[in-house]
Amino acid sequence: MKKNKGIIDQIKKIKQEKSIYIIAHYYQRAEIQDIADFVGDSYAMAVSAKNSAADTILVAGVDFMAESAAILCPEKTVLIPEPNASCPMADKVDINDILRFKEENPEGLVVSYVNTPAAVKAVSDICVTSSNAVKIIEQLPKDARILFVPDENLGHYVAKKLNRSMDFYASSCPTHETVTRDDIMQLKEQYPEAEVLVHPECEPGVVALADYVGSTSGIIDYAASSDKDQLIIGTENGILHRIRQLVPDKELILAHRELICPNMKSITLNKILHSLETNETIVTVPEDIRTKAEVALKKMIDYAS
Ligand code: 13P
Ligand code: SF4
Repeated sequence: MKKNKGIIDQIKKIKQEKSIYIIAHYYQRAEIQDIADFVGDSYAMAVSAKNSAADTILVAGVDFMAESAAILCPEKTVLIPEPNASCPMADKVDINDILRFKEENPEGLVVSYVNTPAAVKAVSDICVTSSNAVKIIEQLPKDARILFVPDENLGHYVAKKLNRSMDFYASSCPTHETVTRDDIMQLKEQYPEAEVLVHPECEPGVVALADYVGSTSGIIDYAASSDKDQLIIGTENGILHRIRQLVPDKELILAHRELICPNMKSITLNKILHSLETNETIVTVPEDIRTKAEVALKKMIDYAS
């Protein structure tokens, strides 16, 4: 941390001078989480942006997270430190597939994971995140046909939990899919006392072996209250920073050494400083798309609260 002191001081100074609110995701580098005003899962980040009193928000996360802030806060300037930080799972969604489903199923519902581009949210009935997908889908009409737009693995998890069939859009997270069922079986053998905590973006075979399945904030809360000394963590390695802060004595075992999201990690302190200084990396969403996407996001907040 000492080596970053100069740049951290500069960020703090400019952030204060310009009253900029920094929101970060738990997958961000430790030094970025430490300078943020708020760190959360993707749902809490969206709500925090909406409730913030600041005129300018910087979102240290991938583009769909910054877009959600821009959609919910049209009166605010939203900055993203690295405009190329995107989510490959979200980028794979072809809006024409969604429009085709809607045409073929006029009564059907499109439920979009928040990890989708703004244009996809704009043609969706409601958004969800991993922290609220079960709660929200449970409230939707039982007889409605649902297209769950990625993550496919989260979709399978929700369908199983609710014993409800859904159509799944084929796209998933390359980072979470590095973890295999064999990895977990081996680690369970090596650490027989450990609990296994995974994100629902992991494959169903991995999820089936877990003691806890939930969003990043859910995993953190569970880890903090677990009475086990060893925890096997099946999500991106940035989450370890917060868990270590809360329960420094626990041994944390990452389920796979490649649980690193390159897009999340493409954000650096230098890029944050540049963005704060220049205001060059503003996130914009065309107004016709923004207003429609806002309906789906606000509906999520409504159903989740
Ligand atoms: P959370 O909503 O659990 O923070 O997850 C976001 C994400 O991108 C997981 O890969
Ligand atoms: Fe997308 Fe996976 Fe990275 Fe999350 S961890 S932002 S789902 S690629």
